[in-house]
Amino acid sequence: MLRTVRATRYVTPLREGGSLPGLVEADDDGTYVAKFSAAGQGTASLVAEVVVGELGRRLGVRVPELVVLTLDAEIAKREPDPEVQELLLASTVPNLGMDFLPRSTGYDGIAWQPPPREAAVLYWVDAFSANIDRTWRNANLLVWHRQLWAIDHGAALVFQHAWPPVEAWAARRYDLSQHVLAPVVSTLPGADLDAVDADLAAVVTDDLLTEVLGLVPDKWLLAMNSAQATEESRALTAADWRARYVTYLAARRDGGRAWRGGTVAA
Ligand SMILES: Nc1ncnc2c1ncn2[C@@H]1O[C@H](COP(=O)(O)OP(=O)(O)OP(=O)(O)O)[C@@H](O)[C@H]1O
Ligand SMILES: [Mg+2]
Repeated sequence: MLRTVRATRYVTPLREGGSLPGLVEADDDGTYVAKFSAAGQGTASLVAEVVVGELGRRLGVRVPELVVLTLDAEIAKREPDPEVQELLLASTVPNLGMDFLPRSTGYDGIAWQPPPREAAVLYWVDAFSANIDRTWRNANLLVWHRQLWAIDHGAALVFQHAWPPVEAWAARRYDLSQHVLAPVVSTLPGADLDAVDADLAAVVTDDLLTEVLGLVPDKWLLAMNSAQATEESRALTAADWRARYVTYLAARRDGGRAWRGGTVAA
């Protein structure tokens, strides 16, 4: 399970974030970046944060700790900004917290670059999860103590917004040309990339996918019953949702790597 912490103070909004994330302090004395359950894409993006973040972590990607974050109405009442207050009050379902990395900087590919194999692992995870948010414009990578940390996986798992036929998703190609780590990954010989591919695909077992889906709070999955109000989705239990994700992710793993995107643009 992810740890659950209770927010004790809303510190400030992170204005550069599209989903109006905020910085909060919690009852364990930690500081967290909060993604609120009532924001933007709703709880589906929180599901993607946990599934892709925790899968990445198990494959060797550095991801700040993720926690489930509860929020008292008192905290919202003390917030003077009406837009933020409205968001906090609406976020009655638990939120996502990510450990805040103080004085980290955004990755720019100039001052410092990660080792190529490490870059290839993250690149693989992004291609696997169809994460469109790792481009030069929006790298969502932090450098902290000269190490790379991946954040913001809320836009990954695009299939969850439309549930296309599973075969279509399994084969969906991912354009790596704009990927922020493409220049580093392209220094690896093709055989090394193939080895990374084989190694990681072997780690992503059905058991691992089930473990990762088990970390997602039921309430985020059940909130999707109404958000994606088709006849079918309304009747799904949390276990049904988890099985659905595992099916899609396992099919992608087994999809012959057509999705890997072929050659890497230098
Ligand atoms: N764990 C963290 N430690 C330090 N800074 C962080 C952390 N998480 C996020 N930030 C900062 O806050 C910004 C917004 O966070 P994030 O990208 O997760 O939000 P978002 O709403 O999904 O943003 P967008 O959609 O604009 O990419 C990041 O670009 C980064 O500068
Ligand atoms: Mg971002």
